[in-house]
Amino acid sequence: MKKASFILGIVASTIVLFSCNNPNSNARPSAKGDSSQTKELIDNAGQNVAEEFREGATLVTSNDCLTCHRVADTSVGPSFQSIANRYENIPANANKLLVSVQKGSTAAWGNNVMTPHPNLTPQDGTKMIRYILSNRTK
Ligand code: HEC
Repeated sequence: MKKASFILGIVASTIVLFSCNNPNSNARPSAKGDSSQTKELIDNAGQNVAEEFREGATLVTSNDCLTCHRVADTSVGPSFQSIANRYENIPANANKLLVSVQKGSTAAWGNNVMTPHPNLTPQDGTKMIRYILSNRTK
């Protein structure tokens, strides 16, 4: 009996020690601003988005946009939700933002710079922006 509780004690303290030494063993690495919405968008290559905006979302995942933008969190650039909250999803805004993305932009949101995208066609660019503007939260 004494021996059994001694062994039990060792097992218990080993478990305690193990969990103390590995407080983050189950924590996933999370890059700053790596919102779950963005992960979902990337994992599904945009296919989880409402049909109307799906093609734009897919184009966003296959271009460089997500290196600087997240869906819900500020990264190098503003989040898609912030952009959508600032600009209503109407053609006049899509046209204006298409020029921003094609020519590059700074000072509209802060001091960071969006690089120009001269090879982006107006068709693809407009679809991407209409998707971005569909992320309005208020
Ligand atoms: C190198 C980083 C970077 C990349 C790549 C990038 N952006 Fe941006 N984006 C930014 C920054 C920074 C801003 C804020 C610019 C400013 O303050 O004027 C911004 C702003 C925007 C805006 C708002 C512009 C405005 O006038 O308010 C839109 C829309 C946008 N990005 C879409 C895109 C799309 C679509 C792509 C992919 C084709 C993309 N961005 C790729 C950094 C980036």
